[in-house]
Amino acid sequence: MTFHHSIHAASGDPYITETANHHWCYGGDSMELTQAQLEQFDRDGYLFFPSRFTVEEMRVLIDEGPRLYAQHRPENVREKGSDVVRTTFAAHMYSAPFAKLARHPRMVEPVRQIFSEPVYMHQFKINGKMAFEGDLWQWHQDYGTWKNDDLMPEARAMNVAIFLDEVNEFNGPLMFIPGSHTLGVLDAEHDVTTTSYPLWTINHDTIRKLVERGGLVAPKGPSGSRIVFHSCLVHTSTANLSPWNRVSVYLSLCAVSNHIRRFKRPESIAHRGFTPIQCLPDDCLLRDYEVPLPWKDGTPESALQPLLAS
Ligand code: SIN
Ligand code: MN
Repeated sequence: MTFHHSIHAASGDPYITETANHHWCYGGDSMELTQAQLEQFDRDGYLFFPSRFTVEEMRVLIDEGPRLYAQHRPENVREKGSDVVRTTFAAHMYSAPFAKLARHPRMVEPVRQIFSEPVYMHQFKINGKMAFEGDLWQWHQDYGTWKNDDLMPEARAMNVAIFLDEVNEFNGPLMFIPGSHTLGVLDAEHDVTTTSYPLWTINHDTIRKLVERGGLVAPKGPSGSRIVFHSCLVHTSTANLSPWNRVSVYLSLCAVSNHIRRFKRPESIAHRGFTPIQCLPDDCLLRDYEVPLPWKDGTPESALQPLLAS
């Protein structure tokens, strides 16, 4: 993969520096995606890897969850009319296990590889989709929101999702329209009423046409499964009426040069620090590594406020 090597060849590149425990997620041996997977990603807009993490690794994250959901922090968005957590934003800023996940090479490296560039954390969220109460996510593209709200210049950011719970056909799996990412940014309307979380959503006529063209898939698998998906891929998920939680974590990673230009949303939802992520070693979830937890004693007031770009 020549694009990869060309990065290494850039002598004096500050991103190539390594320290004992931190790696920039470079390194020929750590490449996550094969050429065939890169081609599949270009065609379909997503890649699914069942059981990419072990049960022991997931246990560390699952055990930490309830402590976080119980907190009445402003980063915890509740379901409409309920106390059940829908989304916990920015847990990597105050929880050690999630701070390690945010620096995990199996999460970060595929995106760095696709963009051939260091990435930073644009958004970090744990979506509860709790048993019986987890509400739907309307049809949308992530980049639509990042462009409209955050003035992110290009679709050079994407999600890596990891299942903490098994995802099956009953607990509201993500649904994708394969190939829909090739159409770029589609018209969207700002829906502030359907759920407790505002979203730029795509109308049903468009969805009908897109599904005729590309069909629908819903990747399902055990805890520890990983999905990498393009930020223009059209997706949704239904409510969870099953008795099983569907907790998944989403890292939205953005190429550093493509950082957002407007700080309209709170920093807990759209981060304003564009430092490239330094990865920890591959065993980081199972061992002690020091991670910064800047919001451990509470979220700074400034991070909760909208801030207009200069
Ligand atoms: C999202 O699209 O951001 C979340 C969807 C889901 O968790 O089902
Ligand atoms: Mn989304």
